[in-house]
Amino acid sequence: MCGIVAYIGKKQASPILIGGLRRLEYRGYDSAGVAILDKNIKRIRSVGKIDNLAEKIKNQDLSGNIGIAHTRWATHGGVSEVNAHPHFSCDDDLVIVHNGIIENYRELKNELLTEHNFVSETDTEVLAHLIEKYYQGNLKEAVTEALSRVRGTYGLVAMHTKEPNKLVAARLGSPLVIGVGDKEYYIASDTSPMLAYTKNVIFLDDGEVAEITPENLQIFNLQSEAINKNVEQVDWDEAQAQKFGFPNFMLKEIYDQPIVFQDAIRGRYDLDGGTAHLGGLNMTIDEMHSIKKIILLACGTASYAAMIGKYAFERLAGISTEVEIASEFRYSDPIVGRDTLVFGITQSGETADTLAALREAKRKGAYIRGIVNVVGSTIARETDGGTYIHAGPELAVASTKAYTNMAAIMFLYALQFGRLNRTSVATGQRLLAALLEIPEKMEIILKQSDKIKTIAEKYKDNKNFFFLGRGVNVPVALEGSLKLKEISYVHSEAYPGGEMKHGPIALLSPDFPVFAIMTKNQLYEKMRSNIEEVRARKAPVILVATEGDEMAKKITEDVIYVPPTMELLEPLLNTIPLQLFAYHTAVSLGRDVDRPRNLAKSVTVE
Ligand code: AGP
Repeated sequence: MCGIVAYIGKKQASPILIGGLRRLEYRGYDSAGVAILDKNIKRIRSVGKIDNLAEKIKNQDLSGNIGIAHTRWATHGGVSEVNAHPHFSCDDDLVIVHNGIIENYRELKNELLTEHNFVSETDTEVLAHLIEKYYQGNLKEAVTEALSRVRGTYGLVAMHTKEPNKLVAARLGSPLVIGVGDKEYYIASDTSPMLAYTKNVIFLDDGEVAEITPENLQIFNLQSEAINKNVEQVDWDEAQAQKFGFPNFMLKEIYDQPIVFQDAIRGRYDLDGGTAHLGGLNMTIDEMHSIKKIILLACGTASYAAMIGKYAFERLAGISTEVEIASEFRYSDPIVGRDTLVFGITQSGETADTLAALREAKRKGAYIRGIVNVVGSTIARETDGGTYIHAGPELAVASTKAYTNMAAIMFLYALQFGRLNRTSVATGQRLLAALLEIPEKMEIILKQSDKIKTIAEKYKDNKNFFFLGRGVNVPVALEGSLKLKEISYVHSEAYPGGEMKHGPIALLSPDFPVFAIMTKNQLYEKMRSNIEEVRARKAPVILVATEGDEMAKKITEDVIYVPPTMELLEPLLNTIPLQLFAYHTAVSLGRDVDRPRNLAKSVTVE
């Protein structure tokens, strides 16, 4: 996710834009740029934080009352000045900033290449040339026509030298807010850049295009029909605005999951062919066929996402897959060879243990690839290919949306390998259809946050918890236990349900609650028996159960229902109640959920 700021009015635009970018730096910070229209368009860009850009424009004449600016979270194209926004059309008369992913940018670029010259690797530049293609004197119409060709998501602002007193903005899937002043307007990805100037805002909705001059704001749909929108008053302060009104980044990122999950899979699957296309794998079909073992290297939450990937690779592709804790891997004389594919799975791309383990695997001749969130990170650069998970900046120390997106990418990789041998097109289509339903099923669970909060408050004084799962829900139990530990500081342990009778059950008592995942799958009856063992020891039980399972209510009053899905995909849904349980427990105990004690977002030491 990136940050967009734009201004049109009577003030000097440049200081408003730079100040606004600083408030959006949390949305992305690998490069930034600003463009001011004053007869011609003056553009300045820089790599790195906003301070670098501010330094660069210090001695430049950037006077002008209309401008656009952008801070980047790279998705397509590496971190470089040439890839930084704003992006020009060929004739430097048109310039745009964009947040989102243009899914069909390659085919559009091929169409435009004959008459347009491109200088960057970005999908955004394709949009600039596409608008230029359709420009015949009316920028709003050119933007609307160009967007009719686009598949993907966008929040964009454009300006043109031939219409020097106008901004055009459009939104589909990436937020855009318009701040309303006195003969002046502010546009941004959230309200934080405008709160110092106005609290009167208009939230653009998907499929809307705004044409803005200092005197007039008009909003249209993509059929060019005028739309009336209400001006709303926000009473957020800047900090709240950066979290879109959420009290902290962790809760915002839990709620981001349905949206960023779509960013993870968008443009990376073929529904008709029942397969996936992750181009970053950078392996030929023969090389893929030569793989006899897959190793998933990770730490912490990423290692639990990797466990989900193990089930996916083995079930869909029939390839023996091992999850290795990175800090153990390199000292364990790992058996790795030319027939081994090793993935480093990491949000930050900087985890020292994972990096060191990957280097060891590389020394032993394995194929090494990354499944990474932060573009241009060390692990992304040192692996010989891989895939970005497109979760956007994850600022809370406790990982949530990155975990879900890591799993999504591994399902796609497992399908891509699976369709080389044991997975049929029908199975592939079923899996993809089920994946495409996940976002709306996540939303159903997120709507139960208040109920989960009530359950969390009921148990907040308990000092110990067990988390139980079976099969694909073992990593869910492990992740739920880690979330509770790391943000609420409450002790918990996770076990496969069948393991309790081999010792841990000795710990059970009425003040030792057990959180169990008992969803309707092939191991449902087995988990029910494990829960009966728990109840026999008078331990309280909290359940994640499948919608409609009346038996769950007979076991306990504390049941969180989740929609059914393909068993393999259950972790994508069943983890969310556990994320929310940990979150509400931590809040009820007064913890700093974004910055838990003793922890760092990226562990760059071994
Ligand atoms: C997740 O909640 C933890 N903060 C931690 O376990 C994290 O998952 C682990 O350090 C790995 O980080 P990475 O994904 O950036 O490599």
